[in-house]
Amino acid sequence: MKGLILSGGKGTRLYPLTYTRAKQLIPVANKPVLIRVIEAIREAGVNEIGIVVGQTAAEIREALGDGDAWGVKLQYIMQDSPDGLAHAVKISRDFLAGAPFVMFLGDNVIEGGISSLISDFADNHWNCQIVLKRVDNPSAYGVAELRPDGSIEQLIEKPTVPPSDLALVGIYMFDHHIFEAVSEIQPSARGEYEITDAIQWLIDQGHTVFPHIHEGWWIDTGKPTDLLEANSHVLEEICPTIAASAEIDSDSSIDSRVTVQDGARIVNSIVRGPTILGKDTVIENSFIGPFTSIYHHCEIRNCQIERSIILENSRVIDIDQTLRDSLIGRNATVKRSDGKPSGIKMNLGDHGNLWV
Ligand code: TTP
Repeated sequence: MKGLILSGGKGTRLYPLTYTRAKQLIPVANKPVLIRVIEAIREAGVNEIGIVVGQTAAEIREALGDGDAWGVKLQYIMQDSPDGLAHAVKISRDFLAGAPFVMFLGDNVIEGGISSLISDFADNHWNCQIVLKRVDNPSAYGVAELRPDGSIEQLIEKPTVPPSDLALVGIYMFDHHIFEAVSEIQPSARGEYEITDAIQWLIDQGHTVFPHIHEGWWIDTGKPTDLLEANSHVLEEICPTIAASAEIDSDSSIDSRVTVQDGARIVNSIVRGPTILGKDTVIENSFIGPFTSIYHHCEIRNCQIERSIILENSRVIDIDQTLRDSLIGRNATVKRSDGKPSGIKMNLGDHGNLWV
């Protein structure tokens, strides 16, 4: 069994963060989503992984290298333009070399790992297995219609009248028949080679496609609100630790669900978990948490921050109101200005949002 992670794409829904960074490298609970995906695949016993990359290839290679640091062997597969998930499979044919494989979208986070799915697929000799999750608003997703024997009869993209509440989650398992499917299908109305069309082709040709119904949470971190939600879920799961090199003064109070990473310094502050504070980050005279991830080398002084993600080297200083449900990129500054004339001043990136 091999692994295939899709890490190309444009990430338009996460502008402006993804103008300057691959969306799969945005950290959730201070660890990039893509590394969480690699770990989930490795924990299921799959060590040979191909990563489909696009315009952010250099940044992804620099972050992951040859995979040694995570105990896996990585091979990069260049996709010249983001022509769809089925197109990404098509260009990975040489790497996969006829082996069955698990395909994971590089921006998805799932509870509980994928070991049980992989053993289901290996034991049952199906041609394809897809992961489904019950959702409240199936019309927003790819939806599956099941046969009485539990196999998939039909997949429909964003149906107006959904045949079920079972939405497609971004994890798929295939055998070699998928290569025939991806070369038979045509681009969809939005101009992409859709994986749902390729799977439907398998079904129409009489191949066996079965679902695994996922009971835990699953989040596609495509939008800022999804990232905040994934961050909250993952923070609840991680086992909190305080690094030996962290400094917490006697005027501060940290509850038991807080992780403090190397060299972080907390002065006269209250931190409520689940929360994570990154390497060399300084928190002073502040109230942080719950559900907050502050990444490495940040400076937070005289503020209240709740349910937010702040990326590296950013500063939030002297803010009177609580900063809540916020996503702040790298090297950003949020600071009160007492200068005259009074008013709000900003250097806001393209597609940025500021709520005052
Ligand atoms: P999407 O979220 O569907 O697409 P996107 O990354 O272009 O985002 P947006 O809609 O905000 O512009 O992609 C899901 C995952 O698959 C993501 O990790 C990117 C990856 N992907 C590829 O590797 N190749 C592709 O051709 C496409 C469409 C996506």
